[in-house]
Amino acid sequence: MTDLYTQIANSPVGKLIVKNVGLPQPVALERFSAGDPVITGPVKFGAAPGGRLVGPVSDLLQSIGVEPPAEGAEMKAVVFDATGIETLEDLDVLQSFFSPVIRRVQSSGRIVVLGGPDDASPAQRALEGFTRSVAKESRRGATANLVRVEPGAEDGIVSTLRFFLSSKSAYVDGQVVRIDDAAGGPVESSWEAPLAGKVALVTGASRGIGAAIASTLARDGAHVVGLDIPALLDDLDAVTSGIGGSSLALDITEESAPRAMAAHLKAEHGGVDVVVHNAGITRDRTLGRMDHDRWRSVLDVNVIAPQRITAELTKGKGLLRRDGRVVGVSSISGIAGNGGQTNYATSKAAVIGLVSELAPALAQRGVTINAVAPGFIETEMTAKMPVALREGGRRMNSLSQGGLPVDVAEAIAWLGDPASGGVNGNVIRVCGQSMIGA
Ligand SMILES: NC(=O)c1ccc[n+]([C@@H]2O[C@H](COP(=O)([O-])OP(=O)(O)OC[C@H]3O[C@@H](n4cnc5c(N)ncnc54)[C@H](O)[C@@H]3O)[C@@H](O)[C@H]2O)c1
Repeated sequence: MTDLYTQIANSPVGKLIVKNVGLPQPVALERFSAGDPVITGPVKFGAAPGGRLVGPVSDLLQSIGVEPPAEGAEMKAVVFDATGIETLEDLDVLQSFFSPVIRRVQSSGRIVVLGGPDDASPAQRALEGFTRSVAKESRRGATANLVRVEPGAEDGIVSTLRFFLSSKSAYVDGQVVRIDDAAGGPVESSWEAPLAGKVALVTGASRGIGAAIASTLARDGAHVVGLDIPALLDDLDAVTSGIGGSSLALDITEESAPRAMAAHLKAEHGGVDVVVHNAGITRDRTLGRMDHDRWRSVLDVNVIAPQRITAELTKGKGLLRRDGRVVGVSSISGIAGNGGQTNYATSKAAVIGLVSELAPALAQRGVTINAVAPGFIETEMTAKMPVALREGGRRMNSLSQGGLPVDVAEAIAWLGDPASGGVNGNVIRVCGQSMIGA
């Protein structure tokens, strides 16, 4: 989708006007292409005294071949292990470490703060305000995120750190992620093909965000079973045939759909490893004008079907294999609420509830469930919005632009990674740190 403002703001004359008038300055975000390394450019790594993650982070940085910046030089990323911060006085180390380096973070740079559990001390909780403010201060497409690592989960940080250091996380900004001690222990995966040998089911895969999820999971090595309504089978085939996947034409709200899906996955693949509940609809009306059909159809597609499908795939021994991953697609409307969308926001908040409800039980069998909550994403849906609303949606975030379907897909691929077993019960907003619901 064309974002004319961003194009103008990045032209030589446009740049000058935007700067002088104080308008938002979106930059073209760097995005991942197949074959790219985790990160190119120097990474500054520091730690508060007593940090638990110095060893694991140093090992990872060494394994991906990054160097520290030369004295006074720019850097692509800054990583700070704040797990050793215990008292409020200890917080001084954040200022003394970051203030001299923060202005030397390059365009599309990455700032990752690593903390401990948020209930460990007020000082650990403080990391949230710090990181979210750093994200808001960051310019030129740089992002800042906080990764909380529970004691005992130190060996499970690799996939998450790789994601947040790389351009795969271009539109994930100001987020807090929690990594627990993964049930079943840490699993390794390769950067190039983390989903090699895995089977992924993606609902609503014929277009938009679903098509991007399908091709991103296929890029990462998965065989993708794309699902959509029978009326869109041609479009679905066009997506799946291009990525070596297969198609399943089903309406997920049909009573028989979960069983039909399970039967297909069992017969063709013996099971499934990654399930992405992406299919979703909107039927907007203010509550006073909302008829029961509009209300119920949105709940049916967006959350009742995902609940029934997940139950079917995990019942008994379960078709969802060990190290399985379930990802729901929520929305910032489900977090912040949105006028005219009581049905949609209710359903998308319920997706988050489903994640909280199922995460502990699924962890027992080595399976995780998480949700992504997209903000303004450039799709056919958002292209149809009235222009003022669309421009507002695009600019009201720290990156001053809309995200792309691939940004949502990359976050899902990270959550789907077998090495992300410690990331369970999280809701990750893919919203460029939207001001809505922040
Ligand atoms: N576009 C955004 O900015 C945005 C923001 C937040 C959340 N989301 C969510 O992301 C997801 C994808 O959104 P999109 O913009 O790509 O939407 P889209 O309308 O382009 O695609 C949704 C897909 O789901 C399929 N689908 C709908 N009902 C179905 C059913 N009963 N059975 C099987 N498939 C069905 C549709 O046929 C379609 O292919 C949705 O869950 C949406 O709510 C989108």
